Amino acid sequence: MKKMEELQNLNKKWMEECQCELKKTATQAVPGDGSADAEIVFIGEAPGKSEDAQGKPFVGAAGKFLAEMLFIINFKREDIYITNIVKYRPPNNRDPLPEEKSACREWLLEELKIIEPKLIVFLGRHAMNNFFPALQISQAHGKLLIKPFKGMSTKYFFPLYHPAAALYDGSMREVLIEDFKKIPKVLKEIAKREI
Ligand code: URA
Repeated sequence: MKKMEELQNLNKKWMEECQCELKKTATQAVPGDGSADAEIVFIGEAPGKSEDAQGKPFVGAAGKFLAEMLFIINFKREDIYITNIVKYRPPNNRDPLPEEKSACREWLLEELKIIEPKLIVFLGRHAMNNFFPALQISQAHGKLLIKPFKGMSTKYFFPLYHPAAALYDGSMREVLIEDFKKIPKVLKEIAKREI
């Protein structure tokens, strides 16, 4: 079976089976989107208002900023895969609760197992802390993390500030753009290590 088909089946299954409480208040599920053969998977926090309305991740203001940064490094949205740790919009965009994150966790892990990306980019602390609970985003952003996880082929991770947090904060915005520009070099570094 092709990876795209596997992802479609996975999303269909989880949309029916996911026990996340947010399902009750959200308009619809927002599964991952993009290339199933992507080298990079971006992981955000949770869908916002526009994503909830359209059923697609990162289509609002943060998504527009993300698309601008992808353009700077010569990537198109179609080249990458983008998903969230929580697949349903929390009411009023509040932070997802621990039990909501764990209800959607297996869905995320299964997506990653199908795609097997070379690199996982965390957009913000929620995504990073899902895998590295002890790290602070202010310390870890823009640094390549290498750690094998059981049952996962990807061992390279790159945390960034969340585009929504950086959107209206001048200095954080600059840091995020500079970190983002490191992604092509990070991919080269991974290729060298994997020889
Ligand atoms: N912020 C996120 O973390 N995810 C989205 O899909 C949109 C905004």
